Amino acid sequence: MKRLGILLSGRGSNFEAIADQVAAGRLDATIAVVISNRPEARGLDLARERGLIAVPLSAKGLDREAYDRLLVEELHKHAVDLVCLAGFMRLLSANFVRAFPQRILNIHPSLLPSFPGLDAQQQALEHGVKITGCTVHLVDEYLDAGPIILQAAVPVEDDDTVESLSARILAQEHRIYSEAIRIMLSGSFRIDGRRVKLR
Ligand code: GRF
Repeated sequence: MKRLGILLSGRGSNFEAIADQVAAGRLDATIAVVISNRPEARGLDLARERGLIAVPLSAKGLDREAYDRLLVEELHKHAVDLVCLAGFMRLLSANFVRAFPQRILNIHPSLLPSFPGLDAQQQALEHGVKITGCTVHLVDEYLDAGPIILQAAVPVEDDDTVESLSARILAQEHRIYSEAIRIMLSGSFRIDGRRVKLR
């Protein structure tokens, strides 16, 4: 059985959606460890409540390379096959990315390459796009930049606020993240430059 490592910084709703799929037997994987750079993250409590291994790993006083080495060590300790960033608010170093080649996923609340970075839903509203959504992609050392596995479109309504739009995007995030994990674990894809082709 493939082993997932979840990295998060906050609320942890994407983690919960993945854990629900695992618990329901709809994802043939096990969650080996949940790690947070924020010890107070709600996601860590949720992991503990589910009886999972929850590891607070603060970056205080460490530079990026040193912190990422600790992260890699922790993930290797739990024999993680696939790393899933689920609201993990840190950029990963090239060395981290090399430790898990094409085995790191991220979810972002926009249709990349539009609106990378923070507050993607607000960026979409401010720009006035009519359609936004979410993206699951492979992680490289750049921000929200690697090859795209899956996307889901979400129409923007005239009366949307950041909250209402974020909620509709989040429902799609919860759906496509597990779907993308399933694709990665099944190996039924090939990567052709930036294009991830599903078989
Ligand atoms: C999600 O919107 C995700 O796309 C972004 O951060 C948020 C995390 O939410 N990367 P949660 O912690 O999974 O609830």
